[in-house]
Amino acid sequence: MKCRACGGKAVVNMRQHKLALCKEHYLEWVPEQVARFIKKYRMFGPDEKILVAVSGGKDSLSLWDILIRLGYNADGLYLGLGINEGPDGGADSGYSAESRRMVEQFALGRGLKLHVVDIQQEYGHSIPALSLMTHRGQNRPCSVCGVTKRHEMNRMARELGYDVLATGHNLDDEAAVLFGNTLSWQKDFLLRQGPMLPGHDGLARKVKPLCRFYEKEMAAYALLRGIDYIYEECPYSVGSTSIYYKELLNQLESERPGAKLAFYLKYLEARVSGLFIQPEEQPQALHTCPVCGQPTQYEGKCSFCRMLEKANSET
Ligand code: AMP
Ligand code: FES
Ligand code: ZN
Ligand code: ZN
Repeated sequence: MKCRACGGKAVVNMRQHKLALCKEHYLEWVPEQVARFIKKYRMFGPDEKILVAVSGGKDSLSLWDILIRLGYNADGLYLGLGINEGPDGGADSGYSAESRRMVEQFALGRGLKLHVVDIQQEYGHSIPALSLMTHRGQNRPCSVCGVTKRHEMNRMARELGYDVLATGHNLDDEAAVLFGNTLSWQKDFLLRQGPMLPGHDGLARKVKPLCRFYEKEMAAYALLRGIDYIYEECPYSVGSTSIYYKELLNQLESERPGAKLAFYLKYLEARVSGLFIQPEEQPQALHTCPVCGQPTQYEGKCSFCRMLEKANSET
């Protein structure tokens, strides 16, 4: 297989794009595509301050690397979740400790600014502990984790004065979420899924510059760029519905290269053409949480503060 750009030996063959590239041209192609998507979906301008949420995985570290290569002003945010299961287990070598090491090593090696929030230090409980205290009998902390991450990412972006919050969600993530929301025709969720969600009422603008890249493409980018990342997924994701949907979509993709991308892109087209929303409909107005001051859909305390209150009443 030959590189389409130079005729040299291709190392990446993307059947869905009918494109094969050598290492050098692949490492050029990825940031060019990201720059194109940033413009197309009006994510941010050249002078805006970006906060990149970095988990230590290949996607978010590659995203940070790409934004810096493109000349953007991008700092990192790592949230310590206190997950001690995983790799070798334990407070020093479990999933959270390993992922934090990866992120800190990445930032230090490149002289980049990294903000770290340790949830246990900040609020007194790790994510698994919060989950046990608020959802007794359930040992899957993913929903507690999701609420906490959203809350803390928004809080940090706003408090530190960033214009926009960027996450490393890739096409496989986005297609799996879309698949789940489509199976149950979740109109509200369908409306809120997109590469760029404008900020309003105290909610930071959110962008996903990697949303059109296959997971495999990002793994190839990280590998070819020599980025060290944590290979393990969160130990609690094993057996999750989103992994099951990803597997189903991969089966479809293996028979029909490009099906996953088409599913997502056709959805974006339908979304802007008004299939799900009447043009005069506005995003739902938000309330302000009386405890933390963050925006919430509910009148009264936000989900995060209610959760914390419940956990604290248990201790
Ligand atoms: P996930 O929800 O684990 O699939 O991660 C999706 C995106 O959320 C990642 O690409 C990161 O941008 C961000 N993210 C996940 N976990 C963390 C974390 N512990 N700290 C900061 N950002 C995170
Ligand atoms: Fe949050 Fe797994 S439970 S990353
Ligand atoms: Zn080439
Ligand atoms: Zn609150």
